[in-house]
Amino acid sequence: MVEKKQTLALASDHGGYWMKDFIVYKLQEAGYKVKDFGTYSGESVDYPDFIHPMAHAVNEGDFERGIILCGSGNGAQMTANKYPNVRAGLGWNEEQVQLIRMHNDANILSLPGRFVTFEEAWKMVEIFLNTPFEGGRHKQRVKKISQIIK
Ligand code: RB5
Repeated sequence: MVEKKQTLALASDHGGYWMKDFIVYKLQEAGYKVKDFGTYSGESVDYPDFIHPMAHAVNEGDFERGIILCGSGNGAQMTANKYPNVRAGLGWNEEQVQLIRMHNDANILSLPGRFVTFEEAWKMVEIFLNTPFEGGRHKQRVKKISQIIK
């Protein structure tokens, strides 16, 4: 459960811009504080330019949770997951979002702005913010994610 006094970080490219705008509105309406890293219009941009600064801030511990969006959710997720303290999971449906929290302790939700409805996206955001990490056997698995072989 994310406390409402926490600030949530958001970022998207043009493919997720309108959905981000909607989610920012819904989050603020629900009482959350948000830091919007852009983009700030529907004009075509490169998603890494907006996802990197946001993922870096999450990686540094400036924000505990964040939401990123692009057309498919993939490019945004790939970019964010370059940071060792980031666990960005793709949200295609409610059950999947439950699992990225319960099993993977995801701290970033990546949404495919062109493949789900605004209503579905908001439902997934609520699940992302309110589902706890299960811990147990998943703890050591999550720990191993950043232990890359050199
Ligand atoms: C932009 O057209 C699109 O490629 C981008 O939003 C995203 O889907 C990339 O993964």
